[in-house]
Amino acid sequence: MSDLDRFFATCLFEIDNCSDLSSIDAVRMAIFGKNGKITEIMKSLKNMTPREKREFGEKINNIKEKVRARLQEKTRTLELDDMEKKLSSEFVDVFMPARPYSPGLVHPLSKTEEEISGVLASYGFRFADGPEIESEYMNFTALNMPDHHPARTMHDTFYMKIPADKDGCKLLRTHTSPVQVRAMLQHKPPLRFFSIGRVFRNDYDATHTPMFSQIEGLMVDIDVGFAHLKWFMSDILKQFFAIPNLALRFRTSFFPFTEPSVEVDINYEIKNGKVVFGTGDKWMEIGGAGVVHPTVLEHGNVDAAKYQGIAFGFGLERLATLKYGVPDLRGYFESDDRWRKSFGFSFFA
Ligand code: DAH
Repeated sequence: MSDLDRFFATCLFEIDNCSDLSSIDAVRMAIFGKNGKITEIMKSLKNMTPREKREFGEKINNIKEKVRARLQEKTRTLELDDMEKKLSSEFVDVFMPARPYSPGLVHPLSKTEEEISGVLASYGFRFADGPEIESEYMNFTALNMPDHHPARTMHDTFYMKIPADKDGCKLLRTHTSPVQVRAMLQHKPPLRFFSIGRVFRNDYDATHTPMFSQIEGLMVDIDVGFAHLKWFMSDILKQFFAIPNLALRFRTSFFPFTEPSVEVDINYEIKNGKVVFGTGDKWMEIGGAGVVHPTVLEHGNVDAAKYQGIAFGFGLERLATLKYGVPDLRGYFESDDRWRKSFGFSFFA
């Protein structure tokens, strides 16, 4: 028996003797692995004449093919054995009830966002976005609050430890109003944009959280003015709350980026201990609004001699709280399952 014949016989013997998948793997490595027997055998080729090489090569290839086939066959048999063993030893109870599965609920903020977006979209407003890490320029300067303007102290700002560039330092935006400027820089008037997003202020108690959300709207056109703003505020709030008789009150106020500026209130009364909107003579503040200051239009590359703008900004949590009676602002951000179950909405509602 030649060395090769002996090698072939040994391979088959070892394969046939394997009783599980890990031992067949070990045998495979010992034969075909990088430091396996085949590699060893191939080393002897270098001392042979070309003719011997050809004969030897043919033979070894033949052997390799047969050994591979045997390995494959044995592996398959062992795999089947393995499955057979599992099937007879493991037990599947097909009558076991399924685990309870919760498809989740829609967060009241998502619901509010969707509803108010729908109302604004129906007036031709399109969504615009801006970064939460904003430049000092966009958050303040472009909105008519230059470097030492006292209005900057109205916001308790989180400044970032990022080196300042030509737009000043970086900060967590304190309101969504910078998106107004971004939208104007990107699109030519006439335009109607709204934005919804997170804003950040260094404030924390039952009615203030360091992070909350705002909805911002901007309309720029040749002949829009304060009268449009009043009508528009009233119309979108009536639709959002689904209360046709909702009354609005506009209180003069001050924002550096609007002139004139107002704060918008809606009417309510308390009936049986519950807040009811659209009746009564009590007033609740809902947000700020105004006619866009010409300086802001100019920072947005809009010709202030030709165009006017109207804008508004509401707190999204506040809208949700009023519409759905959510009590504490902090609940919105605490991911408490009980809160979620009380105030969440079904996907199919
Ligand atoms: N940015 C203001 C704030 O955070 C809210 C606001 C007031 C936005 C008047 C406006 C506006 O667009 O016109 O307090």
